[in-house]
Amino acid sequence: MRRPMVAGNWKMNGDKALVQQLLGHFKSNIRAENADVVIFAPYPFLYQAEELLSASGIEWGAQNFYIEASGAFTGEVSLGMLKEFGCKYALVGHSERRTLFGETDEMCAAKVKAALGAGVIPVLCVGETLEQRESGVTEDVVGQQVKAVLELVGAEGIGQSVIAYEPVWAIGTGKTATPQQAQDVHAYIRKVVAEQNAEVAEKIQILYGGSVNASTAEELFAMTDIDGGLVGGASLKADDFVTICKAAE
Ligand code: G3P
Repeated sequence: MRRPMVAGNWKMNGDKALVQQLLGHFKSNIRAENADVVIFAPYPFLYQAEELLSASGIEWGAQNFYIEASGAFTGEVSLGMLKEFGCKYALVGHSERRTLFGETDEMCAAKVKAALGAGVIPVLCVGETLEQRESGVTEDVVGQQVKAVLELVGAEGIGQSVIAYEPVWAIGTGKTATPQQAQDVHAYIRKVVAEQNAEVAEKIQILYGGSVNASTAEELFAMTDIDGGLVGGASLKADDFVTICKAAE
């Protein structure tokens, strides 16, 4: 039985006051006993996350990182620095990083390997665009994104990671994939991993992301191969995120 997981991706949002309010609310209202709960905060707020969430049962992580350990990479942040602030997880390959910052499947695979090497759990984000879905190549696209990582880190590495399926056309649009649409791709992702190692495929957490909200979460999370959600906008709404976390338990 896979342990459910709900993660909030705040993206480039928030200020000290909102972070204090949200994390205080989550700490008081989320037990994280029957599900993993993670907050992906912008870099500047990782200090507050560590201060407020330590010993709460809620984990935190970063939305990105640079692959090198240190050096002349102005503006970048290393995995070692993230661990200084208690980060347990890091997102890799979010569609906004792939489209806005040119992150390729190969770069994502290398970042997954680096995160694993640093003892940070990578959450590999995969997903197709509306054009790709309408062209019938969803499985080709998502399969390639997963296989690129499998080729580099193998089933063992993927088994220490989390995968998040985020159809690009559902991100930030309010248009959630239907539970069956999401289930079909989750099952395919699990099948791709199973081709390498059936036991790892059975155990890996596969989250759904893309306009998850308080009213859609329960039906989505009830699907066989959906192990929880990667939540954007709704994770910035205190009560909604608490409701979504409860739906996963
Ligand atoms: O990483 C989660 C994000 O891409 C989903 O955003 O606002 O559609 O829940 P949203």
